[in-house]
Amino acid sequence: MIERRKSRIEGWGVFATQPINKNKRIVTYDGEKIPNKVSLDREDRYLKKGHIWCFKLNRLYVRDAAVGGNIARYVNHSCTPNCYTMVKGDTIWIIAARNIRKGEELTYDYSTDGPGHIRCQCSPGCTVML
Ligand SMILES: C[S@@+](CC[C@H](N)C(=O)[O-])C[C@H]1O[C@@H](n2cnc3c(N)ncnc32)[C@H](O)[C@@H]1O
Ligand SMILES: [Zn+2]
Repeated sequence: MIERRKSRIEGWGVFATQPINKNKRIVTYDGEKIPNKVSLDREDRYLKKGHIWCFKLNRLYVRDAAVGGNIARYVNHSCTPNCYTMVKGDTIWIIAARNIRKGEELTYDYSTDGPGHIRCQCSPGCTVML
């Protein structure tokens, strides 16, 4: 249903290899489950290299896709995304927010908090900081 290819947004991206229906659970965001406190150090380290790999599961835990991540780690952010995420227990799902055409790049809103370090390139005029 999906594959990794070079993205027009940044680096690698994930693309639909067939039409995907709205609300389809596409893929889980895998990665090592670590406590928030451990994640803070790692996030700093990753950000220094311009990377965001940590996805908040809940108040206490984070999934770090840099360790044990799957293809979902290559899904880029967009301010007008075609996917959304849902946390169910320990599992993070990436889900189609609308019908997605074959060949479209999958994106979701990273909803990053704190001071932004990476300028969003989802569209030419975007000024959001991730
Ligand atoms: C989870 S990875 C996504 C895959 C990434 N494109 C790659 O090649 O590894 C997150 C990183 O992708 C980049 N990225 C994702 N969405 C972006 C966006 N809208 N604008 C600029 N960079 C983005 C940032 O460098 C971010 O740290
Ligand atoms: Zn943007």
